[in-house]
Amino acid sequence: MTQPDPLPPLVKAVTATRIRDMVLMAMAGVSGAWLAPMGSPAGGALMAILAASALRLAMPKGAWLWRAESLISTPTHKRATNRNADILDRLPIPYLILDAEARVVFCSADATALIARDPLGQHIASVFRAPAVLAAVDQALAKGTDESLDFTALRPKQRHFRASVRAVNGIEQGEARVILALSDMTQMRQLDAMRMDFVANASHELRTPLAAITGMVETLQGPARDDTANRDRFLKIIEREAARMARLVDDLLSLSRIELQENIIPTDLEDLAPILAEAISATTALATETGNTVTVTLDTAPLIVRGDRDDLLRVFHNLITNAIKYGGTGNPIKITLTTGKPSHFGIAIRDYGIGIDPTLIPRLTERFFRVNKGESISRGGTGLGLAIVKHILTRHQGYLQIESVPGQGSTFTAWFPKAENDAYSDLQ
Ligand SMILES: Nc1ncnc2c1ncn2[C@@H]1O[C@H](COP(=O)(O)OP(=O)(O)O)[C@@H](O)[C@H]1O
Ligand SMILES: [Mg+2]
Repeated sequence: MTQPDPLPPLVKAVTATRIRDMVLMAMAGVSGAWLAPMGSPAGGALMAILAASALRLAMPKGAWLWRAESLISTPTHKRATNRNADILDRLPIPYLILDAEARVVFCSADATALIARDPLGQHIASVFRAPAVLAAVDQALAKGTDESLDFTALRPKQRHFRASVRAVNGIEQGEARVILALSDMTQMRQLDAMRMDFVANASHELRTPLAAITGMVETLQGPARDDTANRDRFLKIIEREAARMARLVDDLLSLSRIELQENIIPTDLEDLAPILAEAISATTALATETGNTVTVTLDTAPLIVRGDRDDLLRVFHNLITNAIKYGGTGNPIKITLTTGKPSHFGIAIRDYGIGIDPTLIPRLTERFFRVNKGESISRGGTGLGLAIVKHILTRHQGYLQIESVPGQGSTFTAWFPKAENDAYSDLQ
């Protein structure tokens, strides 16, 4: 632990300067007395002063003495400027100020955090190794021109910046010449990349069934025109692929609608139990086909949340369908109310199927992510179900919890905040 400094810097500075002056005067006296016998007393005194001045000049520009001097000689308005520097430092904008040699004379706290080191005194070329930045700074210094440019910094990690370079006429004459303000565009770039990825993925997902349909139609019009035996088979494929396209378009539309509404928190009061029952009955046909039995154990008390009925139904429908599709033929599926978080209802959907590799769990809610694409497609999957679930839960201020043991099955728990207590009585 460091001890607090007992003396304020200005007092220390004055003391230091006094000591120095006393030493100098003593030296002057000694040298004057030594020189006096050689000539007149006035000559001795003059020599003494000269000797003192020479000594003073010869003194090293050592830290404490010079700092002391500068503190004493700093006029009040300049000390106010020092305090202003504190304000400038705290401005929530990452920016640097450069001098006429393109060296950093000021770096705001936010810029220091972005660069992950203190670049004070360094040439801008060693702070950002981007030729475009250097060129803009050079232009600002030479011609006083302003410029905005994008560049990529590789250290401490890869980031995309937009830099605004502005020439200034010395705030302190001969000091501040260029302001370089930074905007971190990394996240925006990532969002752009995600959007482009999404469009590419969606087009690809649609093109595959479309190509199958076109191929079948051409075959039916050409070589298989009179092939009655195969015609039904081809028509079945067309039907299946068209249904896949319809599911994809439906899911894409749902996703975009939910995203648009994501910031609008639902206000209707809904009981989760009947919605869950409706989702189960909508999936009964599929469960019968695969031999899965779905059992539900809930509280008798209503499970009231603020929600959008259709969206809540979609959450349960997607999770139960997944449990049936990936839960293994003939296995049970158990739906229970999970407690443990007093402020929330947790509806857990447990299957005893293939399970999921734990490293892939964080990716399951990404759009079009499937552990096994072929398997998902063969079961009518679009790869969008869990992305939709996640967005709906976010809109409801809830979240999805996924636990799984490969080979033993998975539990998907949808957590919803309970509606406030008075809302219960409103409903009853
Ligand atoms: N209950 C589950 N058990 C095992 N894997 C699952 C389960 N639910 C989802 N998955 C995996 O997560 C992927 C994404 O699910 P989802 O977004 O619903 O897409 P889809 O079901 O259309 O493939 C699935 O393809 C599957 O690999
Ligand atoms: Mg699904």
